[in-house]
Parts: sequence; structure tokens; C-alpha cells
Amino acid sequence: MLKSIEESIKSLVSPNDGGPLSTTPSGDALVDQSGVQFPIENGIPVLIFPLELHEAISESRDFYEGRADQYDDTLHLTFFTHGLEENKTREEFIAKLNISPNSKVLEVACGTGRDSELLANHLDESGELHLHDISADMIRRAKDKMKDCEAEVVMCLSNGECLPYPDNYFDACYSFGALGEFPDKARALKEFARVTKVGGKIVVGDEGVPEWHRNTEFYKILLETNPMFAAELPIKDLPVEARKVRLEWVIGGTFYLFDFEVGEGEPTANFDYTIPGHRGGSYRSRYAGKLEGVTAESKELAWQMVQNKGTNMHDWLTKLIEEEAKKTGLK
Ligand SMILES: C[S@@+](CC[C@H](N)C(=O)[O-])C[C@H]1O[C@@H](n2cnc3c(N)ncnc32)[C@H](O)[C@@H]1O
Repeated sequence: MLKSIEESIKSLVSPNDGGPLSTTPSGDALVDQSGVQFPIENGIPVLIFPLELHEAISESRDFYEGRADQYDDTLHLTFFTHGLEENKTREEFIAKLNISPNSKVLEVACGTGRDSELLANHLDESGELHLHDISADMIRRAKDKMKDCEAEVVMCLSNGECLPYPDNYFDACYSFGALGEFPDKARALKEFARVTKVGGKIVVGDEGVPEWHRNTEFYKILLETNPMFAAELPIKDLPVEARKVRLEWVIGGTFYLFDFEVGEGEPTANFDYTIPGHRGGSYRSRYAGKLEGVTAESKELAWQMVQNKGTNMHDWLTKLIEEEAKKTGLK
């Protein structure tokens, strides 16, 4: 069931100032606390931001305008080419999201809703499905497909690099077939992680034949029809919060698909136990306790001292410094 605008804006925030949105008195736009207005077109809020889009994003949007029907009528061929049934294959991707009937799920660049329908089937009336795309024509087709679904559906035109949600809103975030069109993939993936709860899942896939198949006729044939198969694997663009990352190539090895769990900030570890051996110390003291360098001769002497004393470098140096500190009254 499609949520009303009034209900939808309870979960949406302004992509401009991150604050709440309200409807204008005329009801044909949303307005944020800074006074920036966002139109509502065909019952769908247009929260595309920044207002002046990156050229590549505008081009993408223009490309899909007027193409939705043709896209929807022919897209199954992408799977057929590799002897696959589209819905069955997409279900395998969706399974990686680990969604429950009451999950809050975001689909970025939902297009004509080919995955959206399947995602909706995993949710009941306590779940929420939020469908976003930058093309009004594409999302129009998705909207038609959502009429009878049980879950609450929020639809919105937005730029996937600038999502109109507060942090940690979703249990899962999904995007298939679009990342290659984002000029700043790292920013988009960071946004996906920002709006997903810690412990939530993110699944992203797009065209990209792996390096080891690039010198094949298979690849050259594919490239002739769709240059997107030359896209690089955006592994360096994954956000620092990405944990338990898994990567595979799907649809006959022509699309990469990675999934990861959202963690909090940098990875952490136990860096504080004493490491056995002649260096001694811990991971942390080796990193954080570095002192100035010494001559090669002094270094050699130090190692001899350590050996003679039957200790390790960390303990010997620490003792030496503490003794000196005591002598000078510092300790
Ligand atoms: C190839 S279609 C994939 C659609 C759908 N996910 C599927 O698997 O059929 C790519 C979609 O990405 C959307 N898109 C491109 N750039 C976008 C952006 N910056 N933000 C949101 N959507 C974008 C396009 O409008 C288009 O609907």
C-alpha cells in the first residue's frame, strides 16, 4: 500500500538541511526548515538534491526519461542471455539482505520496480519498503506494480548520493544495476551505510566483467552491446563501516554483486596484549609508542643488551626510561 504524502514525510528528511519536511499550504510541494521547496509530482515527492545536479547524474536522468516501457519490456533478456530466469535470480540477490516481514527496506535506483515487487513480497503490513529513483518515468512503472502489496510503500525521486533520511533508519539497503551510473560511488555507498542501522545489510550489484575474463571473445561480444560491462569493480569505494564483505559475480559472471554488514566506524581489535618474542610490547605500543630513530650501531647495541638481560626490547626500553625518569624526579 502506497503511503500518503503526510505519512511518508514522517520518515523522510530534507536532503538539504537534514531536518523535517512539511507540506506547503497548496499541498503541491514539501518545504524544509530552511525554506527550500521540493515539488510533489504525480503523488511522489521530488527530493532530488543538490538542486544543481552533477552532469553525469542529469545525463542518467535524461537517458531514462521516456525509456521506462522499453526497459521493462526487454530487461529480462539480460538474464535470458545467460540461461537464467530473472525473478529466481533476483530472489537470490534479495536473500542476502536477511529481511524479516517487519523490516524497513530501502531500494535505491529501483527503476521500473523489477526487484521492488519481489522485495515487497518479503514484507507484511508491519514492514516498510522505500523505493527511490532519479527518473520520474522509471518510478512511474514501479508505482503501478506496488498497488496491491501488503507492506507500507514510500516512493520518492531522489539522488542516491544524497538520500533524504536520518542516520540508521533502515534494516537493509539494496541497489541493483545502477552503481556504475553514480559519478561518486564512494559517496553513494557511504550514504547507503549512513541510512542503514549498525548490523543491517547492504547488497549492491552492477555490470562489470571481472579482469580475468576481459581478454575473451565473450567479453568483447558483450561490450559491443553494452559498454557498461567494462565498469571497474568499485571495491575501493566501499565505506569504512563495511564488515563481512562478500563478493561474487552473477548473471553468467557479467555483474559483480557484493553484500556487507554495516559496522560502526573503523574495525576494532584487541591491540593491547603482550606479544611474545624478542620485540615484546603490544600492537598498540609498537604503533603508538614509537620514538626517534637511533644509529645502526646504537640499535645493534640495544639488541645485544636485550639479549644479555634475557628480556625483550619493549620491556628493556620501558624500564630504562622509567629509571631515567625516577632519577630526574619525573616519576
Ligand atoms: C539500469 S536501471 C536499473 C533499475 C533497477 N534497479 C533494475 O534492476 O531493473 C538504472 C536506474 O538507476 C537510476 N539512477 C541513475 N542514477 C541515479 C542516481 N544518482 N540516483 C538514483 N537513481 C539513479 C536510473 O534512473 C535507472 O532507473
